[in-house]
Amino acid sequence: MAAPHSPPKVPSAHWLFRAAPLMRNRGHFHLTEQMQELGDFVDLNVPIKQLYSVTHPDYIKHVLVTNNKNYWKDPGTKRLGLTLGNGLLVSEGDFWRRQRRIAQPAFYKESLSNMVDAMVSESLAAHDRIAQHEGPFDLVNEMMILTSDIAAKALFGAAVENNLEIGQSLIVAMRHTMEGMQSIIPPPEWLPTPRNLRFKKARKVLNKNIYGIIDNRRATSDPHRDLLAMLMGTLDEETGEGMTDRQLRDEVITLFSAGYETSANGLSWALYLLYLRPDR
Ligand code: HEM
Repeated sequence: MAAPHSPPKVPSAHWLFRAAPLMRNRGHFHLTEQMQELGDFVDLNVPIKQLYSVTHPDYIKHVLVTNNKNYWKDPGTKRLGLTLGNGLLVSEGDFWRRQRRIAQPAFYKESLSNMVDAMVSESLAAHDRIAQHEGPFDLVNEMMILTSDIAAKALFGAAVENNLEIGQSLIVAMRHTMEGMQSIIPPPEWLPTPRNLRFKKARKVLNKNIYGIIDNRRATSDPHRDLLAMLMGTLDEETGEGMTDRQLRDEVITLFSAGYETSANGLSWALYLLYLRPDR
């Protein structure tokens, strides 16, 4: 299916910021409405950037498969590198391909089956925690605790003492990164604003913890069956090289942050929809 050259534009909501306030304030509700209203290829009409929503499977294939060499990750995604370094979400081209090749075996069915016990025991613990609430409670927060505990166990095994410190500093760092992605002109990182200083402190705590875990692993020959062990133990078939500490740090933080908030939000929405339609 040939895509139209000029997709329909979302109408402006502001003379200067055009349709950007709708994106900022209503996020995916806005995207869903525009898709229903204007179709599966839409110009989101924001200033400075060119932003499109592409939802038709043929167009998605065009971007991600047939013509993927013509498309690069946008500056917003690149900004994630402030926290995630050059991990899979940020990297591109040959480096991305190599890292992806090394990480792939960690996601084979047999590798994932090692983690099922941890997933089940953490889910039961979350169930018990939730059952103790007598009144209303914050479901998203409960799901964040559940998925960050599962992510920490899957990545580093049970022996990590600082899950909470890692999780909290990751939240501060990622929030800072996302706020920058949403603002049209983010303030430069070198300015000593309270937000920038908070971010730098969180990133320092995060690095201290993650490099500490990697150093401990390098210093021991005890067997581990978690994702970190798999990433450390896999050599690239083509070059015979493994990952450096820096690459391990970037991939571990990427997997942690890509895995836990997305899953927590998905679970929260699923439970909310079940609550609205218990008959389904
Ligand atoms: C419901 C849960 C999830 C959702 C909705 C989700 C969504 C996404 C999306 C939209 C992307 C593409 C991002 C982009 O390139 O712009 C992505 C990539 C990625 N996700 Fe997830 N994700 C989920 C769970 C997870 C989990 C559990 C993990 C890890 C354990 C994970 C790890 C990754 C990684 C590493 C990438 C980058 C892949 C690459 O470029 O090679 N995600 N995810």
